[in-house]
Amino acid sequence: MEKPISKKDQLYEGKAKVIFSTDTEGVNIMYFKDDATAFNAEKKGTIENKGVINNKISSAMFRYLEGKGVKTHFVEELSEREMAVKEVEIIPVEVIVRNITAGSISKRLGIDEGIELSSPILEYCYKDDDLGDPFINDYIIRVMGYATQAELDIMESVALKVNDLMKEFFDERGIILVDYKLEFGRYKGEVLLADEITPDGCRLWDKVTREKLDKDRFRRDLGNIEEAYEKVLNKVIK
Ligand code: CDP
Repeated sequence: MEKPISKKDQLYEGKAKVIFSTDTEGVNIMYFKDDATAFNAEKKGTIENKGVINNKISSAMFRYLEGKGVKTHFVEELSEREMAVKEVEIIPVEVIVRNITAGSISKRLGIDEGIELSSPILEYCYKDDDLGDPFINDYIIRVMGYATQAELDIMESVALKVNDLMKEFFDERGIILVDYKLEFGRYKGEVLLADEITPDGCRLWDKVTREKLDKDRFRRDLGNIEEAYEKVLNKVIK
């Protein structure tokens, strides 16, 4: 029998998660907190039970994507708030995928939210909290050495494949996948989909009512945040 994965030292504490080392080679533990932040951590709060819900949603999404041939850092769901993940080196580039206008693209381009795009838009941001995750492009990524062209090619094609898969997955469950952020990591010469896939980093709208089922409820003080996250979980694991 395989040795169970056991937690060792805390390596890093982020805004919504804590990473621990383990005594299994190449494996870390990701612990999901209830803390929520928005607007580059200017707004802080907690969403009751969010960590438990997000661990379940993210585990389900990674299992689904792995089943469709996407390579991810997911190893296993260990407990209510803990997931075992491969010990990746995070590539400091956030990949944002948009299917419908919302948030920063609406602001930047002066266009309404809720407009369906004729094909997905990919954007890149430099992952740096102190700088507020600035918008960057492929030239900046290559020249500054954030990622190689080969890595960028993988990130782009995986992001588009994940988009097709996730759009269909959510559509079948009565949810519109508006936009979301992906992160990737390096592991033993491969580029793996990493971080989390949860309503913290995705905009998800109810297909019928267009009710927001994501972190915009926290950002915009819309209330019923936990209920919205739970609704997503129940549809995801249906
Ligand atoms: O969220 P905001 O309007 O500031 O930025 P956006 O560029 O419209 O975000 C697009 C999508 O990526 C949303 O689903 C965000 O939740 C997500 N995102 C994220 O999870 N983390 C970031 N640092 C930036 C965006």
